[in-house]
Amino acid sequence: MKHSILIIGACGQIGTELTMNLRQKYGVDKVIASDIREGSEDLMRSGPFEILDATDYDALEEVVAYYEIGEVYLMAAMLSATAEKFPERAWNLNMNSLFNVLNLGKEKKVDKIFWPSSIAVFGPNTPKKNTPQNTIMEPSTVYGISKQSGERWCEYYHQKYGVDVRSIRYPGLISWKTMPGGGTTDYAVEIYHEAITNGDFTCFLKADTKLPMMYMEDAIRATLELMEADGEKIKIRSSYNLAAMSFTPNDIAKSIERQLPNFNITYEPDSRQAIADSWPNSIDDSQAQQDWGWKPEYNLEKTTREMLMHLGSVKKPSAE
Ligand code: SER
Repeated sequence: MKHSILIIGACGQIGTELTMNLRQKYGVDKVIASDIREGSEDLMRSGPFEILDATDYDALEEVVAYYEIGEVYLMAAMLSATAEKFPERAWNLNMNSLFNVLNLGKEKKVDKIFWPSSIAVFGPNTPKKNTPQNTIMEPSTVYGISKQSGERWCEYYHQKYGVDVRSIRYPGLISWKTMPGGGTTDYAVEIYHEAITNGDFTCFLKADTKLPMMYMEDAIRATLELMEADGEKIKIRSSYNLAAMSFTPNDIAKSIERQLPNFNITYEPDSRQAIADSWPNSIDDSQAQQDWGWKPEYNLEKTTREMLMHLGSVKKPSAE
């Protein structure tokens, strides 16, 4: 590969694992990690790192020129629950960082861009079951509005300026290496940590709140497969629906109980319940299957086994 890869937001839940995977695949020096602050020891030790504010175009341009960057993964964003508390900051971060990266593409300073969208682009009027690729969206959260607008801009930059931007609407992501921060689906990560450390968990969503979810390994593989796919196969330049499993807090608690019989869950829904209620229960990802061969490998049982195994045998990662 001639050019290098830049990951913006490399210290977050997805960014950390994405960076490690890309480094393994393309070589340590070809993959530049960046974030507004330093990340885990593992990440910091694994290769080149730059402190970078994604909303600062000049700083971004400088890093891109210095390292001869060809591909950018923009993983920095403010997630759903935090964005409700800081609407303007969320909008500024989520949109300005995207504009900066899309403009690098427009000016031919980078060749290829990955930008994550989310199930949060859907809203209360969206069909909840097997939500189609193209449907009513009308998101009701600040985060969802920023992702929906972002999708429109990605499509626009592709059509108008030929920018090779690719995107996935991630479901809730479950991982053990780095904690998520400020999302509505975070309970599905916290529950495993609490199951191991305390044996019980107080869930901020109701027992029967069904949401689309995915194990991180599947999410990373999907991201790399989409980025490696032949450009002609990528028919959707807004963002692809992507699915693996759907479950409720009650389902995940039951799957943990099967391994840890004394595990106990209680429910104290908070403001995040309304966010979860506005999102789909399950996602139809047939377009991703058709266009670039997407196929998930992890269901809930397999995810629970992996999470408990890793968290039981490794030190608990510190929360961001
Ligand atoms: N997992 C994210 C959140 O809960 C959705 O993309 O905010």
